[in-house]
Amino acid sequence: MSNLVDLSKIDYFTEESSVEAVLGRNGSKADARLAQIWASLIQHLHQFAKDVELRQDEWDVAIDFLTSTGQICDENRQEFILLSDVMGFSMLTDAINNRRPEGATENTVLGPFHVENAPEYEMGANISLDGKGQSCLFEGRVVDLDGNPVEGARIDVWCDNEDGFYDVQQPGIQPRWNNRGVFTTGTDGAYHFKGVKPVSYPIPHDGPVGKLLIQLDRHPYRPAHMHYMVTAPGYEKIVTHTFAGEDEYLKSDAVFGVKSTLVAPFVENEGGDTKWRSPFDFVMVPEKSEG
Ligand code: BEZ
Ligand code: FE
Repeated sequence: MSNLVDLSKIDYFTEESSVEAVLGRNGSKADARLAQIWASLIQHLHQFAKDVELRQDEWDVAIDFLTSTGQICDENRQEFILLSDVMGFSMLTDAINNRRPEGATENTVLGPFHVENAPEYEMGANISLDGKGQSCLFEGRVVDLDGNPVEGARIDVWCDNEDGFYDVQQPGIQPRWNNRGVFTTGTDGAYHFKGVKPVSYPIPHDGPVGKLLIQLDRHPYRPAHMHYMVTAPGYEKIVTHTFAGEDEYLKSDAVFGVKSTLVAPFVENEGGDTKWRSPFDFVMVPEKSEG
């Protein structure tokens, strides 16, 4: 008996059989969910290379791009999330994971500038510590889908200053915790606090993602927005923004975060002690039960 292998029986990798060749390598102990994700990813990725007839020099550029995207990452900079954001992938994943009934407040992108453990304030406090910008009263209620007040809702807010930067982008220039704070609702579910009207600003664009945007002839700007993270026991966490309606970048947000239900009024606060007033109610849905 010959111990030569019958070569005609081996499924070597070919252009035509590339997907089957890769997927056929998984062993029987592969994690089921990972195998499902891997199979779809390999199919789409191989199809993509075939669709565009990917050239070697183009793939080399892509590898260099991914390498520099990784190299610029550190504890304060996450360029891969930024890449996901400008590809609309963060918003797509967020949409898949946060489908809510009509009337509930919609989610949007978290962004890189949230900081845990911001100062907790009494209702009415002013979160603008640098005294710059156009003063604004933010007010409304946290309610459930039936309009009942949600007591004990924690409203964590943050926004940029008049110059378009978050405090964490300008340590030593802006006071720590500038334009950030946490407010907790009482029995009526109401909230109000003072701050400044946010302004539009560019996402960090001095790295590989910024260069990519230039090559795609895209701008890096986000329309003016106020960030909110609203949590309450028994309710789904809301990670969202309110957007200022007249902003020039509303229809071309660099990270696709705008939803029509999140565009909030910013009206002159006649008779009040701030220039603007921005009313907005948050509508929470019960937490999904496990299983
Ligand atoms: C932000 O709104 O803070 C943000 C979101 C995505 C990327 C960069 C910034
Ligand atoms: Fe932001």
